[in-house]
Amino acid sequence: MTREEALDSIRDNVENENLIKHMLATEAIMEALAGRFGEDKNKWGLAGLLHDIDVELTEGDMSSHGRLGADLVREMGVSEDITHAILAHNEMLGVPRETNMDKALFCADPLTGLITAAALVRPDKKLSSVEPKSVRKRFKEKSFAAGASRENIATCSEIGIELDDFIELGLKAMQGIAPELGL
Ligand SMILES: [Fe+2]
Repeated sequence: MTREEALDSIRDNVENENLIKHMLATEAIMEALAGRFGEDKNKWGLAGLLHDIDVELTEGDMSSHGRLGADLVREMGVSEDITHAILAHNEMLGVPRETNMDKALFCADPLTGLITAAALVRPDKKLSSVEPKSVRKRFKEKSFAAGASRENIATCSEIGIELDDFIELGLKAMQGIAPELGL
């Protein structure tokens, strides 16, 4: 599946622009992580881009979120390792994270929310005015962007990247697509 085909399919299944931006941000972080570890950027990027394609279809039902998405993208010809990462990103499905791509998606997903929230509290609401150290500070404030699971973000250590480093990499990756994110 090409990136264009993935985006077309996302447009067919997702109306919420913020959700689409979240998937674009996750894609950017996944590509940056793949670059760091010498992995397949296209593949890791696609996993990030497609991981929440079923959120509206499942209407927030976490017991099917990820499973429907995996079925959907499998039918479109996406490789099994991508569908596995999509399944494993929702802990409620009980699918273990096995590959580095599974683990990368699991920690990249919540990091996007923390970084987006850190941008939105800046006077100009721009990613360009966010410093890594302010995201690190926000990480420690539990009530800030509480939906962004700190525990899940911190599993970055499982793929061999320290939290501070991961935050910096994620911020840089999202800054690189700031116009698409509207931030
Ligand atoms: Fe997500």
